[in-house]
This record gives sequence, structure tokens and C-alpha cells, in this order.
Amino acid sequence: MNAHVGTPTSRVDGPAKVTGKAKYAGEFAADGLAYGFVVEAIIAKGRIRRLDTAAALKVRGVLDVLTHARRPPMADSDQAWKDDVAPEEGSPFRPLYDDVVRFNGQPVALVLAEDFETARYAATLVEIEYQKDDFSTDLKAQRDRAFVVEKPGRPRGDVAKALASAPVRHEAEYFVPTEHHNPMELFATTASIDCDGRLIVYDKTQGVQNVRNYLCGVFGKKHEELRVVSPYVGGAFGSGLRPQYQVVLAVAGALALKRPVRVVLTRQQMYGLGHRPASIERVSLGARTDGTLDAVIHEAIAVTSQFESFSRNDTGWADLLYKSPAAKFVHKLVRLDVSTPCDMRAPGAATGVYALECAIDELAVALKLDPVELRLRCYSDRDQSSKLPYTSKRLRECYSEAADAFGWSGRNPEPRSMRDGSDLVGWGMASGVWEALQMPAAIRIALGANGHAEVSCAASDIGTGTYTIVAQVAADGLGLPLENLTIRLGDSSLPQAPVEGGSWMAATTAHAVVNTARAIKGELLQLAKAMPNSPLKDLGADDVVLIDGRIAGQKDAGQAVSIADAMRHGKIDRIEKEETHHFAEDKSHARNTHSAVFVEVKVDEQLGVIRVTRVVSAIAAGRVLNAKTGHSQIMGGIVWGIGMALHEETVYDHRFGRIMNANIAEYHMPVNADIHDIKVTFVDEPDELVNPLGIKGLGEIGIVGVAAAIANAVYHATGKRVRDLPITLDKLMA
Ligand code: MOS
Repeated sequence: MNAHVGTPTSRVDGPAKVTGKAKYAGEFAADGLAYGFVVEAIIAKGRIRRLDTAAALKVRGVLDVLTHARRPPMADSDQAWKDDVAPEEGSPFRPLYDDVVRFNGQPVALVLAEDFETARYAATLVEIEYQKDDFSTDLKAQRDRAFVVEKPGRPRGDVAKALASAPVRHEAEYFVPTEHHNPMELFATTASIDCDGRLIVYDKTQGVQNVRNYLCGVFGKKHEELRVVSPYVGGAFGSGLRPQYQVVLAVAGALALKRPVRVVLTRQQMYGLGHRPASIERVSLGARTDGTLDAVIHEAIAVTSQFESFSRNDTGWADLLYKSPAAKFVHKLVRLDVSTPCDMRAPGAATGVYALECAIDELAVALKLDPVELRLRCYSDRDQSSKLPYTSKRLRECYSEAADAFGWSGRNPEPRSMRDGSDLVGWGMASGVWEALQMPAAIRIALGANGHAEVSCAASDIGTGTYTIVAQVAADGLGLPLENLTIRLGDSSLPQAPVEGGSWMAATTAHAVVNTARAIKGELLQLAKAMPNSPLKDLGADDVVLIDGRIAGQKDAGQAVSIADAMRHGKIDRIEKEETHHFAEDKSHARNTHSAVFVEVKVDEQLGVIRVTRVVSAIAAGRVLNAKTGHSQIMGGIVWGIGMALHEETVYDHRFGRIMNANIAEYHMPVNADIHDIKVTFVDEPDELVNPLGIKGLGEIGIVGVAAAIANAVYHATGKRVRDLPITLDKLMA
């Protein structure tokens, strides 16, 4: 039993991806395909006074130019434009809706042509005059305008007094710049029209049903008139949770031309979509000399747009890690003239835990305590806000297993004390924490008498391994080899699924697969029992399992009927079932994943060049369905954490409100030469409370804490504390 779940398994979608058989949104063929190219605003705020398309329209091969003044009808109400994950407050962005410019890089026209190059050339001929208004894109300059949006957790105690009277205090401000997702695949949509006049929209998205519902709202269509398909996604990391503007433009183009239209954004245009908001993080800690905390204050100020209140709590994570009798958490926003920020891998935690875990390290230095020891002295077995215990929390084991694997006991705590030739060597560590979320979803299984099954769900696999996990769980539930399974995902006409995000898709799909496989088993058992002299006639559904193509007794596998025989006898060649899993509500536990990250850096003393030479990350995230794909997930998070610590920053020219490094040459991220030894271990964490299968999810926990561990290691190497990310050599040498 459980032959597949828990076994390190290669991606079932791997061969399709490496052979090019896997099709992405910008690759689907359509007869008579036309191409759209986006014209962007080059001012940050104002109005379009004049938009002249005459020169563009004269170019041979140009079919039309859509603008706010010339486009198919679109909905007027905010409600129609709200997708499933839109911020509650605000008015969603509507491309080509009116003459208002809300951010630099906003789409203001779509040139449609017979081919991409013509559309791109003609886009340069669109003439626009603007009326410019005052604006700001600078968080640091506008911080005094911050307003409170969330007060996470439960403020308790007189925290100001507790902080003032604490024998040891650490207070500091940390900064995380705007970051962009930069997925390998560009945002793209191919909108085509089938023979029945239905729209088929191939879109790069993390949620096909979210996009379908949204487009139906925007263009006044019924669900059966519009299907959204996204079988493969070349990375999205949160940028594809909400429908992106190119999907609206492609559909508008197809409706206008009455022929298929493809819109693929350029890398530069990708910077006009959402981003991780810049944030200022202020952390104040008060402790006794023994290292127990008396007071924790975390206040964050993050960016949102002028038109929507996007908020992901940066603060409050301390309550999931550390005991403190007094605490206060405040998350604030500042409105700037930028596009609305959006989720980016571990939103709120990647940034907030960075600040918290650097602050804890600074407190350890002030207390002359080992940073692991300080964390153990404050360790909390309960969520400090709700006072609830965790379904499971093996963070202690993360600390000890990662410390052992790293060799932490050999650390000299003195900064600048460790060297390797001319390099300063630094060892730092941090904790990570994320949520263990799960959502209802439905899975359909169609089993054929030939022992092949199709398993389907609208869920997108955004590269996280959903195809593989669904196949593993289905293989076990149906007693079939992986090769006998066809997994279909990413199609809005398939059974209901939430957007793929929040690390919830493993738990979400696995439970629905188990339920549907159980329903298949029930029907097979009935067929088997109806056979003459059935060896299973006295057995109930819980007494049998599906294994090796047979319905077999749980206790005596010799009592068995082959699936093929049972179906043949019942004169059916196909069994189809669809079941949903609803998770039981548990109000008596907190549910989180945890990690401990240990890092070695080597810093060139003369030049300040930092290399992350070793990372050990121990993860406690419940049951790991597939250690191979899970390991890759965590590695990807660690690499991104290295980027966050040392490389990544979206740089605005605040005079124009325009992003200056909107390309992957100047927006730096780690490349192979930046990545050295990474070791990932999964701490054994059985969890019978979080959900029946004990699954917590791995998509996001891998990045959390990494930037802090690196910053702490850089301090240990150099004696210099850089609190502004990214830690570039100019800041280190300053
Ligand atoms: Mo994730 S940031 O929920 O795609």
C-alpha cells in the first residue's frame, strides 16, 4: 500500500515539458490568428488628451487599434471587475476603460495586426498627448501618509511600558524594496472562437475558473460561452492569481475582429503588472537578560495603489514563533501611483519574517546569546494571539537537525572571527513560518475497463508539481501504476478548484482524489459482489482495497476480483465519479509550517562581494507526498531567498514614476554561478489534526527566513549590519 505517496517521484509532466509537447498560453494554434501589441503609458498619472492612431492604421497588415474610445463594450461596475482574489476595498484596474492614467506602464492601446512584428512596429506610431498630474512612487518619501489597514493578532499588555522597562532592547527599521516575480513564461493569452461561437481563452493563469468568471463579468458572457484553458504555466509565483490585463485585451481583440487574437507581453511590459510591494518594517524587542521576551512590536508600512487596498500582513508572525506577554502588530499602507501590488511567494511572511528574524539576531548579539539558544528560550508551543496549540510544530527539531547538518557548534560567535584565506566567513540562521491552508475542490475520475483512468480537475499546476501529486494519490487510491493515469488540469470546464496558491493545492487536491477514488471503489465492489460466487460478497467498502488492477480484501488479498472482470460482468466499460472534499473546520488549533535556515557566506574583504556558499534548510511541513518534487520546491524558495537578500530590487526613477530596470539584465536575480551548496531536509512531522492525510504544503515555506539568515551571516562575517535589502556591495563598503 501507499506505493506512490511518499515515494520520491519524477514529475509526470517532465517529458512533455522537456520535449516541447507541453503547450503554453502563447503557443496554441488558431486559424486566422491575429496578434496584439500593447502600447503603454509613459506618464505615471494624468489623462490622455489626444490619442492618434492614424499612422498606425496606415501600416500594411494592421487590422485595428483598440483604445478606451474604440473597443468592445465592457462592464461598468467595480463588482463585475472583481475577481476571486481581488482586494475587498477598491476599484479594480480596467484596461482601455477610460482616459485616466493611473500608473506608468499602464496599457493605453492595443494594436492588432496580421503578425507580431507589424503590430509591434505600428505600436511605435501611436501618438499620445497627456495631461500630467502630480504623483509619487516613493514609499520612503510618502511614509507619513501611511494609514492603518490591519492590526493582526491580539494586542496585549502595556507594550510601550514593557519595552521601556526591558533591561535589553533592540529597535530598528528594515526595508524591503519592490520586487517583481519575473517568471520565465511571459504573460500571454490566445483568445480563439470555436465553431459554436464560444470563446476559448488559452491564458497564463493560476486559476482558470477565476479568469473565466472574471471575463464573463467583464464581457457579459455566460459560463458556457467562455472556456479558459491553462494546462501548463511557466512560473507565476502569485503574479497569475488575479487575471492579468493581457487576457482582457486578447478577448477584446477577438471580439472586435471576430477572429482569434494573441497577446504576449514583452519582458518590459511584465513590469506593468503586480509586484511585491516595497515595505518599511519597524521591529522593537524588549528582553530580560536571560533572553526571555517582555515586549514585541512590529509595524510595517507597505505600498498599495491609488485605486485598490492590497494588504498582506507583514506583522504578527512573531506570535507564531515567540512567547511575549506584551505585543503589538500594525500593518499600514501608503497609496502610490503604481499598479496594484499582488501576492508574491509567501506574501507578508517573506518580508515580515525577514525583519523579525534579523531583529531577533540583533537581540541575540545584544544579549551575547547564541541565536539558536535565544530562539529556544522564547519558543512558543502556542499561537500567542489565539492561545491555540498547533496541529503540529516540530520547529525545535528543525533547529537541531539543521544545526547538526550545518556544523553550527563550530561557530565562533565573534563577528569577523572566521576566515577562509582573504574571505571573511559568516554563519547566520533564521526561522521560517507559513500557513497550512486547504480549500474545497472537486476531482473527477473516469476509470475504463482497460485499467486506464483519467483524473481531472480545473486546478492549475503552476510548476509546483500538482500533476505529479494528483497522479501519485490517484495511483494509490485506484491501485493502478502511474503509466495508466492521464491527469487533466487547468481547464475551466473541469471540476471546481480554487486558484493555485497559498501552498494549499497539495492538501486540496489530494483529499478530493482520495474521496473520488473511494467512490470508484464502492461502485467496483458492487459490481464484483454481483458476480456469481464472488469472493467479495460478504465484504464492505472499508474491507477492500484497489490494488494491482484488482478489488482485493484488505485482510486477505487472495480474496480478489480483477477490475476488468467486474466491469465486464456488469456490462460497463467506464465508471465516472466526481467528489468534492470539504475540510472540517478546526477552531481549536493553529495550523502552520515551520523551518530553520542556516547559511554560510564568504565575503571578499576588499571588494565586499558576497557569496552564499552553503545553505541548510530543515522543513517541518507535515507529510511530504513526494520528497523529490518537494525538495525542488524548497530549493527554488532558497534560491529566491538568495535573490531577495543580495540581488533583487525594482528601481524607480521617482521623477517619472517609471521603473528603470524593467528587464532581467538589470533586475538582478541569482544565476547558477550565485548558487552553491544547498541542503534540504524534511523533519518527520506526523500530523493527524491538520487534515486526514496530514498534508501542509511546501510551495512557500522555502523562501521564508532565507534573506534574514543571509543578512545575519553577512553581519557575522563583517560586523556590519545592512538592514536595507538587497545587501549590495556598495552598502557593505559604505
Ligand atoms: Mo502564491 S504568492 O499564493 O502564488
